[in-house]
Amino acid sequence: MALVAVTRRLPGDALDRLVAAGHELRVWPGPLPPSATELRALVAGAEGLLCLLTDRVDDALLDAAPGLRAVANYAVGVDNVDLDATARRGIPVGNTPDVLTDATADLTMALLLAAARGLPDAAAAVRRPGGWRTWEPAGWLGLELRGARLVLVGGAGRIGRAVHERAAAFGMDVLPVGRGDDLHAAAARADVVSLHCPLTERTRGLVDAALLRRLPQGALLVNTARGALVDQDALAAALHDGHLGAAALDVTDPEPLPHDHPLLDAPNLLVLPHVGSATHAARGRMADRAVDNLLAALDGRPMPYPADR
Ligand code: DGY
Repeated sequence: MALVAVTRRLPGDALDRLVAAGHELRVWPGPLPPSATELRALVAGAEGLLCLLTDRVDDALLDAAPGLRAVANYAVGVDNVDLDATARRGIPVGNTPDVLTDATADLTMALLLAAARGLPDAAAAVRRPGGWRTWEPAGWLGLELRGARLVLVGGAGRIGRAVHERAAAFGMDVLPVGRGDDLHAAAARADVVSLHCPLTERTRGLVDAALLRRLPQGALLVNTARGALVDQDALAAALHDGHLGAAALDVTDPEPLPHDHPLLDAPNLLVLPHVGSATHAARGRMADRAVDNLLAALDGRPMPYPADR
């Protein structure tokens, strides 16, 4: 039976199934991710690895675990895993699709609504002495969703489609944009752009200064995918000069964003600590999928949820 390294304690009891199958667990005990050195020590001698999006799985790590036979990422995104490095070693990599789609799509709508209606500023005004003087005819005006044009980058993916469904129910005019489509042309007509594509070398920095300038004055940006899809300096500049109406981000680069990061000085910005999948149900089901992947691969069977290449 195999030694399985697990890089954080997980909610629920999914890990018990690994023990019941006879495997031995070595679980990183800390509340914070192991450093690269600690991670290498954790995986030494392991045949299975259950890792998080905070753990970099690369050649250096894989060299520290020559007996590794399976990597199960506790996330749907696998940008923390060097898939070429695992493929070179014939190590299957699994992820956790579907089970966090609704949670992430729900949070996207929450961020979209918060940005469209200026909720962070309005809520802050209530707490500020003199910030809320009276009911004002022209106070706290925002964007009405019905009829607003929403450009979904990665709109054909699981989360993109779930956001499409929700946004359509709000009466939004939804335009999914995929790999072969002209994002700049779509952006020129957008009231809101929401990001749902994976982070790859092709999509890194996709939302750059040029794209932000193509957006109409006052447009909104929502990102629940990965922080590095966005050039954060360009985003800060577009918020500071008022070209962008607001941005609502669940993800940043790096994570966590240091409290003195210049992006946080930008106006009309809402940042959450990467909580798209943070429901009890989603996080429990993610653990189940990661364990399903490990049980299969350690048993010599194909992973039920292999990561896309
Ligand atoms: C994922 O699974 O990739 C999400 O970002 C976790 O919330």
